[in-house]
Amino acid sequence: MPSPHKLAISGGSPARNRPFSTWPVFGKFEEKRLLRTLHSGKWGRLQGEETAEFEKRFAAAHGCEHGIAVVNGSVSLRIALIAAGIQSGDEVIVPPYTFFSTAAAVIESNAIPVFADIDLNDFNLDPKAVERAITPRTKAVIPVHFAGQPADMDRFTALAKKHKLVVIEDAAHAHGAIYGEQKAGSIGHFGSFSFQSSKNMTAGEGGIITTNDNGLAAACRSIQNCGRIPGGLWYEHHVISSNYRLGEFQSSVLLAQLDRLESQTKKRDANGQYLASRLSRIPGIYPQKRIPGCTRHSYHLFMMRLVAAEFGLPRNRVIKALQAEGIPCSAGYGFSLHHQPIFQNKAFGPYLSDSRARLDYSKTECPNSDLICREQGIWLDQSLFLGPRRDMDDIASAFEKVFENRECLNREAFA
Ligand SMILES: Cc1ncc(COP(=O)(O)O)c(C=O)c1O
Repeated sequence: MPSPHKLAISGGSPARNRPFSTWPVFGKFEEKRLLRTLHSGKWGRLQGEETAEFEKRFAAAHGCEHGIAVVNGSVSLRIALIAAGIQSGDEVIVPPYTFFSTAAAVIESNAIPVFADIDLNDFNLDPKAVERAITPRTKAVIPVHFAGQPADMDRFTALAKKHKLVVIEDAAHAHGAIYGEQKAGSIGHFGSFSFQSSKNMTAGEGGIITTNDNGLAAACRSIQNCGRIPGGLWYEHHVISSNYRLGEFQSSVLLAQLDRLESQTKKRDANGQYLASRLSRIPGIYPQKRIPGCTRHSYHLFMMRLVAAEFGLPRNRVIKALQAEGIPCSAGYGFSLHHQPIFQNKAFGPYLSDSRARLDYSKTECPNSDLICREQGIWLDQSLFLGPRRDMDDIASAFEKVFENRECLNREAFA
């Protein structure tokens, strides 16, 4: 009989031998709406009513007057940048600890991504680092609400006012998150959300831009729809743009997903806070610090730092041991965005040909992001947080078990 005290990786029985909640969550609501759309024969944005309804309801749920649904949460960033009037060679400040798209969208708008470091404890763009990165060419900043915790938006709003910057919230992780009394996506000039498969609400793919500015909304809508304008002719195109419209089937699924968002977000937040309180008692484990302005965290990811010298084991060994215990987890990004080959080699295709010579991303320094990528970051996925509280207890127990067996695991590694 395998011992419950011995680590599963060393032949003991795992701390968790049942699956966690699976993702995506769907049911008869998605099915009903999808079938209704199918039978309507109105499958395109311009014929049906699903996308129009989804845009209204999602925007309202996020404190915004306008929602412009698009094909994903990458082009949503690009459309926002172009709608804001970003021009060739303008600089846009982004974090290095985020998905590729946050910076790639800047290049695809022919503008220059400038990386400013993140805070070591809350993992979001550090306003002080942003201030240091501002130059006369800086025109916008993209704070990412990383993992689902709102960035320190009061500070970014103040900086933006002072330096006349456009603020685009990358809220790809932050459906339903709240900062103070404001919903994520309603604080900057624009919010940008993703509905890709892993996200807290999904239709497989999809995205939306949110804004409270009528002029910016009209500009986004035109760029999303081949440069058309209200009242214009079908073959009349006013600005550089494309067909970025979201289809009706995806909107049918998203309308059903939106109905689940409030209760799912509350659950993830309660479970996330509880797990953070348990894990922070273990030496060397530092769950993402909750900033005072975070009223609701959407926990797209539960993130933590593991300090190997305090825990007694390096991250890769802890992750392998946890996985063997039945806890799905990963190290997340392996290196900061500016270390990616695209930036080191300036592989920007047709973009930035005028500014490329003066760019040198080998000189970018973001030590906090580097440390988290290379040594300390551990991620748990949002779907784990949709189960009962005892699931959190199982995760915490597995961490505790690995910690208690750290010396044994270290001896085995060197045997
Ligand atoms: C922070 C962030 N921004 C933008 C995106 C891009 O979204 P999409 O995959 O829908 O293009 C992602 C997706 O993973 C993301 O994590």
